[in-house]
Amino acid sequence: MSTSESRATGQSLPAAGNGAGTLLQLRQLSKSFGPVRALTKIDLDVPPGLVTALCGDNGAGKSVAIKTISGLWPADSGEMLWEGKPVRLHGPRDAEALGITTIYQDLALCDNLDIVQNMFLGHETRRRLVLDEEKMELAARETLRDLHVTTVRSIRQPVASLSGGQRQSVAVAKAVMSQAKLVIMDEPTAALGVAQTTMVLNLIKRLSSRGVAVLVISHNLNDVFEVADRIAVLYLGRMVASGPASEFDRATVVDYMTSGTSGRGAGNGGGSAPAEI
Ligand SMILES: Nc1ncnc2c1ncn2[C@@H]1O[C@H](COP(=O)(O)OP(=O)(O)O)[C@@H](O)[C@H]1O
Ligand SMILES: [Mg+2]
Repeated sequence: MSTSESRATGQSLPAAGNGAGTLLQLRQLSKSFGPVRALTKIDLDVPPGLVTALCGDNGAGKSVAIKTISGLWPADSGEMLWEGKPVRLHGPRDAEALGITTIYQDLALCDNLDIVQNMFLGHETRRRLVLDEEKMELAARETLRDLHVTTVRSIRQPVASLSGGQRQSVAVAKAVMSQAKLVIMDEPTAALGVAQTTMVLNLIKRLSSRGVAVLVISHNLNDVFEVADRIAVLYLGRMVASGPASEFDRATVVDYMTSGTSGRGAGNGGGSAPAEI
């Protein structure tokens, strides 16, 4: 699906406000660390089959938000709804069981293992107690092919020998194989060159066109406008804007990221009030 097509889909979905058709909803979620209020009453809707970009300057609360969604720690207050039902996560396994896969910046791949071993780590296929290498290889190869990942020479090469973009591809393929419904990616292109960035952005689009909800954390506006169907902006722990990407332009997003408000009048489709500082 091309970006313009997916944008069109985004606009025809129900407005985010009532959460209809939304996979994940955060409602008034707050999280503090001692005196530091990392998140203050944030609302966020993540629909399936679309790319939602979560933007914000350093320290805005992006990582805290995704770690909370990933079950790493509980929120202090507020609600998280999954497929319309309230859920409480008591650890990353709870998030995984729902179908949430998070790809952190350090990727959590094992350098000494090869691509197939990494993709199946913890979910190995066995036949009479013995690992079914053939079946795993086939599944890994098919998944990478479906995602149009063609630059990997051998799926039996150790992950340590891969480029940053290829490592991202393996992490995404692992998420696809785990049947993830929501894939969260923290700054997936931060360490990548131009060609690898293009590859990863294409991968993100392909993932969403398969019906997966993708939540991408980024402060690279080129990437955001390349892939996002929806944009949400955090500023000092508050959600200051959210809505379809078509409602935003770069200047507006920069305004929200740097001052929590914008005089340009775009991007309040999500209904969040501007930051009170
Ligand atoms: N484990 C922690 N303990 C204390 N404070 C934290 C912790 N993690 C994040 N914070 C604070 O929460 C705020 C948001 O951080 P973070 O979500 O990492 O920002 P970013 O948007 O750059 O990812 C910052 O003020 C940060 O110092
Ligand atoms: Mg961060």
